[in-house]
Amino acid sequence: MEFLLITPQARPGVALVQLNRPKELNALNGQLIREIRDALQALDADEAVRVVIITGNERAFAAGADIKEMAGKTAVDMFLDDRFATLEQIRRFRKPLIGAVSGFALGGGCELAMTCDLLVASETAQFGQPEIRLGTMPGAGGTQRLARAVGKAKAMEMVLTGEFISAQEAHRLGLVNRVVPVGQYLEEAFRLAASIAAMSPVAARLAKESINRVFETHLEEGLHFERKNFYLTFASEDQKEGMAAFVEKRKPEFKGR
Ligand code: HXC
Repeated sequence: MEFLLITPQARPGVALVQLNRPKELNALNGQLIREIRDALQALDADEAVRVVIITGNERAFAAGADIKEMAGKTAVDMFLDDRFATLEQIRRFRKPLIGAVSGFALGGGCELAMTCDLLVASETAQFGQPEIRLGTMPGAGGTQRLARAVGKAKAMEMVLTGEFISAQEAHRLGLVNRVVPVGQYLEEAFRLAASIAAMSPVAARLAKESINRVFETHLEEGLHFERKNFYLTFASEDQKEGMAAFVEKRKPEFKGR
């Protein structure tokens, strides 16, 4: 990997994926997008990994798609390359994915953050969809996911003016889970990851899948889907272990089976 640092066991059961193009503020070029996809695919298949944290550095999570690489492209180039569909594949990642965001999360960087299941932000984090200032618009979920996350009015304002919002405002709007001082955002993400990694990985995946269904279907179908996943957890050893541990007044040990 040229632009990614991957630590599969940064903590027990928790992998860390770090974008590493610091000079370009982690601008997402084609290579970096493909590396993120490939890394997540490998971590999804690695049974020892229960939760993944994706992060950048203090100054930038990612300042968007690489403008210099995109500038001269034609519509047909963009269509044939279809790299933003690659970014969209990240949505299929089945394990809990936590974004630890500091500094700029702009354009494709904001879209990448929004594909995460949970977000921990540092106080310096800024979120924005500034594509309009470049004469274009979001292309990897920025209109769709942002509107679902923060509502139509705020999404319209952000996408049409290109203005950024602060970590505090993102928190108030429900875009991020928590905001912590800049020296603590990664540690806080690890704390959150550890508490999820201690749960049944089977139940965590099924629960994630069920919540994501909310955005893809209507209530009746979503409730049906949820119920089936709930029943399915009873096929796992982890459910037997979790309930036995409660009855026996001890801590459960989930094995992911
Ligand atoms: C390529 C980028 C970049 C980007 C920053 N850089 N963002 N290169 N693509 N998206 C480069 C700069 O050119 C510069 O390199 C170096 O990173 C540092 O950036 P500066 O501008 O000098 O830093 P600063 O003054 O602190 O400003 C930071 C910034 C600004 C506000 C984040 O860089 C900025 O506005 N960047 C563009 C943000 C943006 O428009 N993102 C949306 C992209 S479109 P050099 O070599 O010049 O020093 C997009 C479409 C997505 O994401 C479609 C679907 C995925």
